[in-house]
Amino acid sequence: MKKQYLLSLIIFLCTIFVVASSSIVSHSDDDKLIVKACSDTPKPELCFNYIKSDPSSKNAKNVSDVGIIMARVLKRKAKVARDKIHRIASARDNKPDLKVQLKACLQSYNNILHIDVKVAIDSFKDGNPRLAEIGADTAADGVSDCEESFNGKSPITIYNNRIHDIALLLAAIAKELQVEN
Ligand SMILES: *[C@@H]1O[C@H](CO)[C@@H](O)[C@H](O)[C@H]1NC(C)=O
Repeated sequence: MKKQYLLSLIIFLCTIFVVASSSIVSHSDDDKLIVKACSDTPKPELCFNYIKSDPSSKNAKNVSDVGIIMARVLKRKAKVARDKIHRIASARDNKPDLKVQLKACLQSYNNILHIDVKVAIDSFKDGNPRLAEIGADTAADGVSDCEESFNGKSPITIYNNRIHDIALLLAAIAKELQVEN
């Protein structure tokens, strides 16, 4: 009787262990792709979360698709930043030289939105990840220039850092595709 009880307890515990460990370890197939695509980026977890924040990540079929999604994330976040800069630059009580500096930053952000993101997306689609990487690097350089023009103390440091991070994630995904090929 006691032995039987012990045996069923062991089986019970084993079952829990198997169920629990499989639910922790197993990612769905698209999650696996995203984990892989993000694995060689500077911030894999941040990369994963950004990709998953886009509903179309469910349909990603390859690393190139993941790159296109990251380019769209860059676009979305750069828009938020640009609108913020625009508000500060057009606030009436801000100093004229601050406004001039911010206008230069606005130009960088407009280049990201109108050129760099488009270059990246088109290049992923055309199977030219090297060019996608150049687009991403150009975006990263643009926000660096903005932040450096304020000696790292711009009123939009949080935004510049965020966009810089995303651009570097995008560049790393594009780079990974070049290693694969
Ligand atoms: C990646 O998958 C998409 C479909 O989701 C396809 O159109 C594209 O050609 C694929 N790219 C590569 C490089 O395999």
